[in-house]
Amino acid sequence: MSADLALSIRNLALSFKSWSGTSQVLHGIDLEIKRGERVALVGESGSGKSVTARIILGTLHELKSARISGEVWVAGREMSSLSQSERQALRGTDISMIFQDPTTALNPVYTIRQQFHEVLMRGDPKISLSTAEQRSADILREVSITDTERVLESYPFQLSGGMNQRVMIGMALINEPQLLLADEPGTALDVTVQAQTLRLMRDLVRQHGTSVLFISHNLGVVREFADRIYVIYKGRIVETGPAASIFDDPRHAYTKALLAAIPRLTGGGIPEIQEDSEAFFDPMVTHEDVSA
Ligand SMILES: Nc1ncnc2c1ncn2[C@@H]1O[C@H](COP(=O)(O)OP(=O)(O)OP(=O)(O)O)[C@@H](O)[C@H]1O
Ligand SMILES: [Mg+2]
Repeated sequence: MSADLALSIRNLALSFKSWSGTSQVLHGIDLEIKRGERVALVGESGSGKSVTARIILGTLHELKSARISGEVWVAGREMSSLSQSERQALRGTDISMIFQDPTTALNPVYTIRQQFHEVLMRGDPKISLSTAEQRSADILREVSITDTERVLESYPFQLSGGMNQRVMIGMALINEPQLLLADEPGTALDVTVQAQTLRLMRDLVRQHGTSVLFISHNLGVVREFADRIYVIYKGRIVETGPAASIFDDPRHAYTKALLAAIPRLTGGGIPEIQEDSEAFFDPMVTHEDVSA
């Protein structure tokens, strides 16, 4: 893996085994993120976006029914070659994730303060209490939370959904990860709060220079966010290129259908493609990156 890459995925395939047989979910995916680059993975429900994120995060490796092949390099390490505890050590430090619904990521029985301290200790086991306290308050201010003391002593259920989302973004960034995975962030919230959350996240990752894989089923949502886009259809990348080029000159039939399905109010409802077409299985299209 070359040093200017934050993520390199080579020929990634995934199948699930069950009593009724094997289902192939990913069919050989290649994907790269350069350092500091913001990349989006876009496709309809069930196309394989979240499983890809869970492989990068190293959590799907623990599932007995999952068969993973190919290579996934993050922070100079290949995920399949690591032990469970080595993969675990990367989470929250080198790789972190923002989920669709903050309540699944935050622990209901600990205060926000305790959760920040736990995350900080993963990055630096010897961190002092006063430093941890300072850094927690600082990151909360970065996510536009001003009453830091009240939020730190709260439990997640005492905060609004939008507030928990900000806390989760802060928690994901506090250890300055090499790669941030954001899986449909905010779609569990209402449309205005979602838009605010996305803007906040975009500004923060720009300031921090964080490399991001942003996952969404909605091309409209990624427009402002991504430098480069990968479009996924039934476990295959069908089109990839700089964001502007995908929007101005979509060439694959599936990308065109996805663009036509963008809801008029961004974030309002899930875009639906009426019918599958055989052309959706056409070969992958790669747009030249003119800036490189
Ligand atoms: N643990 C599992 N066992 C069996 N099949 C699974 C498992 N997890 C996911 N799948 C299947 O893998 C496919 C891809 O799922 P995935 O969750 O990645 O979709 P997605 O693109 O994230 O969709 P959405 O937009 O709805 O979140 C789906 O067909 C799903 O049913
Ligand atoms: Mg998903």
